[in-house]
Amino acid sequence: MNAAVPIAGNRFVIIGGASLVGSATAGELLDHGAAEVVLFDNFAFGSEDAIAHLRDNPRLRLVRGDVMRLPDLLRALEGAQGALLLAAHMTLSMDRDPWGGLDVNIRGVQNALEACRVNRVRKAVFASSNAVYGYGPNVSGELVEGTPFHTVGVPPAAVIYGATKIIGEALCRDYHRKHGLDTVVLRYCTVYGERQHYRATNALFIIETLDRVRRGERPIVLGDGSETKHFVYVGDLARANRMAFAADATDVAVNASGPRPITTLELVRLVTRLAGGGPEPEFIAEDRGRVRLTSGGAFRIAHEEAARTIGWRPEVDMEEGLRRLIAWRAGNEPRPAAG
Ligand SMILES: NC(=O)c1ccc[n+]([C@@H]2O[C@H](COP(=O)([O-])OP(=O)(O)OC[C@H]3O[C@@H](n4cnc5c(N)ncnc54)[C@H](O)[C@@H]3O)[C@@H](O)[C@H]2O)c1
Repeated sequence: MNAAVPIAGNRFVIIGGASLVGSATAGELLDHGAAEVVLFDNFAFGSEDAIAHLRDNPRLRLVRGDVMRLPDLLRALEGAQGALLLAAHMTLSMDRDPWGGLDVNIRGVQNALEACRVNRVRKAVFASSNAVYGYGPNVSGELVEGTPFHTVGVPPAAVIYGATKIIGEALCRDYHRKHGLDTVVLRYCTVYGERQHYRATNALFIIETLDRVRRGERPIVLGDGSETKHFVYVGDLARANRMAFAADATDVAVNASGPRPITTLELVRLVTRLAGGGPEPEFIAEDRGRVRLTSGGAFRIAHEEAARTIGWRPEVDMEEGLRRLIAWRAGNEPRPAAG
């Protein structure tokens, strides 16, 4: 059976659409000829600002709704061929509100998949995370799709977040097996780019570094700076989402990461240079109480499986992606989002 859902002429619903990834993906689907893109969101974290650049497009529709209310989803998904499941609490908000986070990340995903089944939506693409590998001292080297979940020494909110994504992935497989719903799971690593928000720990580190450099303060490096982080540019991810719908692949879960990882020190030096220069970084041993995601040293999130299954490879390296983020931010005043 062909699991490909062509973009042109089809209708897509992005659940949690007023988001960093949703706004970029909506533009990508519209550019590729989608008949209609519906952004379904309760605006818990998302904002009108994130989608302002799309509002004049006649093929874009905004629907206010909550993934905790199945009837909202049943209505929004009527006549849709594809659904992108983004609505979620990430680690920082899971730390503040585990009750809300567990609801949205588990029951919300189940509701969305059920609404897909009832409406005979052809394919659901689920936003999972590299958090399914966990963090901590056992995480290093090459993280491939079969790498297990590491929880030792990891902040509880990060474990809870990763576990909810594992459950979301399993719900996708369950709906595929029991109901024939085609699904592709993409395990995003930390997303950065235009319309960056303040909700993801590692991306927040980029923004905070940029802000410190701009204020003439020394940027902060936690530890000795040798620990790696692996990011992915939001435009590359929008393309991955589109390709996941259009590919014949189904019942797969693959990583979506940027071209290569970066050490914390390299990242701080790169942001400093792109911001026009600044003082030398200050090395500190520990953060001030915020959830910090550590690893056992250098790691890389492999994306070769995504190339094999959906034909996707990342294209934008960190220097170019950060240039775009910094240029976008120059025209957008910092405004921490609610939640
Ligand atoms: N941003 C990252 O670094 C990153 C990394 C890995 C995985 N992911 C995953 O990718 C997805 C999108 O990430 P993002 O950064 O674009 O997220 P985001 O925080 O910008 O967007 C999430 C959206 O979901 C909406 N939402 C929350 N609760 C809802 C509810 N009850 N009903 C309806 N809508 C609701 C929010 O208002 C928001 O617009 C998430 O599932 C996230 O877990 C993100």
